[in-house]
Amino acid sequence: MTKKIGMIVGSTRKASFSKKFADKLASLFPEEFEVVFSEIGHLEMFDQDYDDEGTTPASWQAFRQEIKELDGVMFVTPEYNRSVPPVLKNALDIASRPYGENVWSDKAGAIVSVSPGAISGFGANHHLRQILSFLNVHTMAQPEAYLGSVLNFLDDEGEIKADTVEFLQVIVDSYVAWFNRLA
Ligand code: FNR
Repeated sequence: MTKKIGMIVGSTRKASFSKKFADKLASLFPEEFEVVFSEIGHLEMFDQDYDDEGTTPASWQAFRQEIKELDGVMFVTPEYNRSVPPVLKNALDIASRPYGENVWSDKAGAIVSVSPGAISGFGANHHLRQILSFLNVHTMAQPEAYLGSVLNFLDDEGEIKADTVEFLQVIVDSYVAWFNRLA
């Protein structure tokens, strides 16, 4: 049976480096995996009153259902001020509620942090790891995936270089092994 993996990108920027690497990662999965991009940029900012007052936005309802139906999740994210971008935190919060209905729970997860800077999004990577731990996502520990100084991974046409694609394949293969071990 096909396994469904949600690819979640922590940037909505049109020319996002994170999206570029996420696209490539998605293309490297074996055929028994279907990778879908779970969009997060359109989600209203979390406010518990919507759920409490019965005015839950339709976008939240659809997103919660979408995440619920996934078998696993891969996060590819930049770092904002040494943490995760707000658009990603908002999505994590929305699908963690209402209380007791956390739809992230028990999924196999992976984190790839992306940065033009040398520190490789380490802060975002580990803040996200902490959040996912609380949400009961089983996040792959090794190999860690820090894509730093990303301009070095792109050729003159802006395409991802072959040796970087090899590293991305290692991440995907390791995640698939992790996923299958948990299944
Ligand atoms: C950044 N950037 C950034 N980079 C980094 O490595 N560590 C950081 O803490 C920050 N902080 C930060 C805050 C804010 C508000 C912005 C807008 C940017 C730079 C960031 O890595 C860069 O803009 C990336 O290109 C964003 O990722 P995408 O959109 O290319 O995927």
